[in-house]
Parts: sequence; structure tokens; C-alpha cells
Amino acid sequence: MEMKFFKYKGTVFPSPSSSVEDLDFLENEFKVRDDDVFNVTYPKSGTTWMLEILSLIKTNGDPTWSKSVLNWHRIPWIESKGSAKKAQEVKDNPRFFNSHLPRHLFIKSLSDSKAKVIYTVRDPRDVIVSHFYFGKISVFFNEFESIDELIKEFLWSEELPYGSWFDHVKEWIQLVGKENFMLNSYEDMQKDLRGTVIKICKFLGKELDDTALDSVVKHSSFKTMQENNMSNFTQVPDTLMDQKRCKFIRNGICGDWKNHFTVAQAEYFDKIYNERMLGCSVKFPWEEK
Ligand code: A3P
Repeated sequence: MEMKFFKYKGTVFPSPSSSVEDLDFLENEFKVRDDDVFNVTYPKSGTTWMLEILSLIKTNGDPTWSKSVLNWHRIPWIESKGSAKKAQEVKDNPRFFNSHLPRHLFIKSLSDSKAKVIYTVRDPRDVIVSHFYFGKISVFFNEFESIDELIKEFLWSEELPYGSWFDHVKEWIQLVGKENFMLNSYEDMQKDLRGTVIKICKFLGKELDDTALDSVVKHSSFKTMQENNMSNFTQVPDTLMDQKRCKFIRNGICGDWKNHFTVAQAEYFDKIYNERMLGCSVKFPWEEK
């Protein structure tokens, strides 16, 4: 029987979606092009939402593509099985990709290129809650018996898929200030989706008129995405993701952790979070009191 996870250079990856061979090819042989765009996140931080926004920006707000083509075919996860080799053959420019890779395992040729990276972060407490529910429905993550168990794993372990949230975020934000890197947050998207879409367009050098912008916002809303079978992962076989128990596009709010963490868990999280983020130069939206 296939193992549920494997390790590549010490980091855990889900076996159904990736392999050592794919990751090695991607890291060392994949050729980044200057006009490539990467949607990078630690899992459960808003990857699928950004994917939808980028799809809609690409089509100038026309939702036809988003409503007719599965999201992972529109914008593939570059580390998924066979994805990088296939992408190498793609003639169309620009190419768009998603990735959950930590920066130290990312495509080496990125550093010599002008390719753009949009890195989206989310309140790690909400990442934990979202992860907790995703673990109940998918083979890609483990199921945890309690939030408490997952909080400890999240704070202390290197064994969650794609590694530690702290290392992931701290590595990627070292690129803040580079002109081909945009730091974005799930919280900003919630607060001002239209404003975020405008920022993304500016970053990509893409001009959309007001009607197109309105359409991007409308078609990337929580409700539209939850109902869009090309975006809500309902076309994934139940054996990989069983949404009878819980939807992938589940709740989509900021601060859901308040409904799940006890006071003691929240205090413990804060303490360790502050220790582990000590010296971090970026101030995140969830740190504002
Ligand atoms: P919740 O589980 O908190 O609801 P990822 O795509 O990185 O796996 O992140 C999944 C999270 O993004 C889920 O969070 C999901 O509901 C949320 N999400 C997806 N589309 C969204 C949208 N249009 N608006 C708000 N949240 C969205």
C-alpha cells in the first residue's frame, strides 16, 4: 500500500499529490520564465481564492473560463505529479502556477528571473482551524482528534505537510521589497477584495476597467466559489476528498479560531508565536490589537 506521506529533503509531502522525482525535477531542472506568475502559500491560507482571482484577472473579468475549466487545470499546483514536466511544454505566456513549497525547496531558477511571486499569508490560528477541518475530509492531510493536538503539532513539529508555518513564512518574507514579490494577506482580501484585486493588477502590469474589476470581485466571492463546481473541488473523487463531512470552501471568515480555541489555548499560542516570530520585520494584520 502506498504511504500517505513522503519526505523530500526533510520536509513532509502528501504522496497522492507529489513525488520525490517531481520535486527534484522542479527544484533543479524546471526553467522559470520571466513572465511566470506564482501564487505561493502555506496550505489553508487562501490559495484557491487567489487562484480564482488570478484566473479572472487573466480573462479580464470574463467568468467563462472559471465556470468551465477545473481550477487545477486553469492554474496547476507546480509541485503536483507530472505538473512541472507538462508546464515546461506550455507555449502560452504568461504561465500561472500555485505552490505550497517552502522557499528553500522552490525552483532554483526563480532567483535569476523576473518571474512574479504573490505570497499570501493568513492568521496562523485560522490556518490551524482550516487545516483541522481539511484533515477530516482529505487524504492529503492527517485527521487530528482535537484542535489542541493540532495546535501543539503546528507550534512544535516539522512534520506537517510542507513543513513548519513559521519557517515557511519567515523564509518567503525575506523577499519583501523585491519588485517581483508581493506580500498579500487573507485578511486584506476579506477587508477590501476590490482593493486587493487592484493591487494584484498593478503588480502584474495588467489594467482592468471598472466593469472587469467588479466582475473579478463578484466571481471570486465566497458564495460564487462555493457554488462553482469548477472551483469548489466537488469534482475530486470522494476517495481523495470527501466533502460529505465538510465543504472545502467551508467558512471563509477571519477569526474563526475564536470559535475553536479556549482562552488557555489562545494564550499558549500567543506566547509561543511571539517567541518564534521574534525579530520578524513584517507586521501582520492579525498582530494589530
Ligand atoms: P476555511 O476552512 O477557514 O473556510 P486554501 O485554498 O489555501 O486551502 O485555503 C482554504 C481556505 O480558504 C478555506 O478556509 C476556504 O473556505 C477559504 N476560501 C476559499 N475561497 C474563499 C473565498 N472566496 N472567500 C473567502 N474564503 C475563501
